[in-house]
Amino acid sequence: MTLDFPTKVQIKEVGPRDGLQNERQFISTNKKVEWINMLSNSGMDYIEITSFVHPKWIPALSDAVDVAKQIERKEGVTYAALVPNETGLERALESEVDEVSIFISASETHNRKNINKSIDETLPIYDSIIKQANVAGKKVRGYVSTVFGCPYEGTVSVERVKKVVDKLLTLGVYEVSLGDTIGIANPKQMESVLNQLNFPTSTLALHLHDTRGMALANILVGLSKGITVFDSSNGGLGGCPYAKGASGNVATEDLLFMLQQMGIETNINFDEYIQASKYLQSLFSKQLRSHQLQIHS
Ligand code: HMG
Ligand code: MG
Repeated sequence: MTLDFPTKVQIKEVGPRDGLQNERQFISTNKKVEWINMLSNSGMDYIEITSFVHPKWIPALSDAVDVAKQIERKEGVTYAALVPNETGLERALESEVDEVSIFISASETHNRKNINKSIDETLPIYDSIIKQANVAGKKVRGYVSTVFGCPYEGTVSVERVKKVVDKLLTLGVYEVSLGDTIGIANPKQMESVLNQLNFPTSTLALHLHDTRGMALANILVGLSKGITVFDSSNGGLGGCPYAKGASGNVATEDLLFMLQQMGIETNINFDEYIQASKYLQSLFSKQLRSHQLQIHS
């Protein structure tokens, strides 16, 4: 069997948002800013820097506005942030992020636990956010969580995923990132879901938590299906606070190493990138999950 892979992919760094949101330890604004600046210096062109959600729900990111205002903006880098509603969008616009991401789940219970609303209640809010963001000149990215399984409902049918992805694209997001929120997908399932979803691959990205160590195997399937955008997290930091046991996204440096070994271009300088990983590691007393970080520390 010969696998066919793209020659170039984009890595979207979600560490400062997805990575930090689940950490009990509060990282000071200055340190977050220094870390994000190091990520910017590695050649990556997309960083999700924070989340404009309720600070009571996600205290780790309560300094979102300050972080966004204090980082150095490097030309060619998109600095994005998560927004759940109009209040979030207002804060995001005030902070002058380059684009915003909205998020919804394919399963009803996870959506309610995550944003306190049903899926049907959430969609009109996002309709309005997308319109307002576009008027302000900001593109909007969409996430769909629990695509491969839900921590509350178990199996999630591809039909339900398809419906939500279709809704987001129709409302006007430029790309939907398919979330394996609890890291439950296996490569065979990944192939089957991507085959059935049937959207242009240019509108899809993968956002895989590595809870069970299967993220890279699943990414390989995504690559072979023509997906060229992957979310990952520095050090493998992170998880979803509303998905018990969920660990971080696949570590960016592990993904980067695999892609580089395979001759797939990312424009990210590994040596520069690992400096950011080491800095991040120095902020935590626990060992981060990244394999590359263990080799390079
Ligand atoms: P709610 O309590 O239903 O909100 O929370 P509300 O509209 O009823 O408002 C209650 C109060 O919150 C009001 O203040 C609002 O002003 C305030 P009060 O009048 O009582 O003083 N408020 C806000 N404050 C700051 N920023 C805001 C905001 N909105 C309302 N944006 C809400 C609803 C959505 C806000 C809440 O549920 C929330 O913040 N949820 C965040 C959940 C979250 O961040 N989850 C993790 C990210 S998603 C994820 O990790 C998955 C992903 O990675 C993909 C994957 O892995 O699958 C994306
Ligand atoms: Mg996530």
